[in-house]
Amino acid sequence: MNLILMGLPGAGKGTQADKINNKYDIPHISTGDMFRLAIKEGTALGKKAKEYMDQGELVPDEVTIGIVRERLSKDDCKNGFLLDGFPRTIAQAEALQELLTDLKASIDYVIHVDVPEENLVERLTGRRICPTCGTTYHVLYNPPKSEGVCDKDDTRLIQRDDDKAETVKKRLAVNIEQSKPLLDFYQDRGYLVAVNGDQEIDQVFRDIQTEIEN
Ligand code: AP5
Ligand code: ZN
Repeated sequence: MNLILMGLPGAGKGTQADKINNKYDIPHISTGDMFRLAIKEGTALGKKAKEYMDQGELVPDEVTIGIVRERLSKDDCKNGFLLDGFPRTIAQAEALQELLTDLKASIDYVIHVDVPEENLVERLTGRRICPTCGTTYHVLYNPPKSEGVCDKDDTRLIQRDDDKAETVKKRLAVNIEQSKPLLDFYQDRGYLVAVNGDQEIDQVFRDIQTEIEN
């Protein structure tokens, strides 16, 4: 199954991607995670991406398309993949169509996790992540068992650099502008399914399963 998860920053793409990955065993390809790893490793890609991410801007299309092309060409994507946070512009969506044609693959569903814009600032500023295993928490909606510490490995949780209030506003504005044409692009091609993301995390996942299994 080849899936794309779409939704504004904080809609719950990463949270649902983990659940989809556990259940269907398809690789979770998050461009945001790939950029964060490159930043941590101090590579040239990471240095380039950081300039944009710290400002809440999108990384240029040619850079982003390049890393996705490389990743989707790997053998583990032959039996399915889950794209999270890509495509985010029409140019990326068109490049993906070409790439999939080359790979003799196609998209099954584009799942839009839909959350009212007014909820997103709180979701993002309250997010905490584990720097060791990458698990995502929320101080109110998905807290760890012991405050500030990862359930899986006892690591102290941190806040993402781009989840500070000033950057969050910019990220939301940039993504809201890009999102409508992209939703139309996939709606016109018949791939789009919408799921209400303003519900309990497990209920959102059940709704996703209903959409992709029927
Ligand atoms: P990226 O890492 O993709 O960030 P994003 O799209 O801004 O999305 P987030 O990771 O912030 O949110 P999410 O939807 O995954 O929410 P989560 O599940 O964590 O991109 C970061 C940056 O990289 C971009 O700004 C850009 O610069 C660059 N980039 C990445 N891809 C790019 C591309 N294609 N082109 C160009 N540049 C690109 O949930 C959020 C919080 O809410 C968590 O605390 C969670 O616990 C909580 N939560 C989740 N679900 C629920 C629920 N149902 N109820 C209550 N709380 C919930
Ligand atoms: Zn952890």
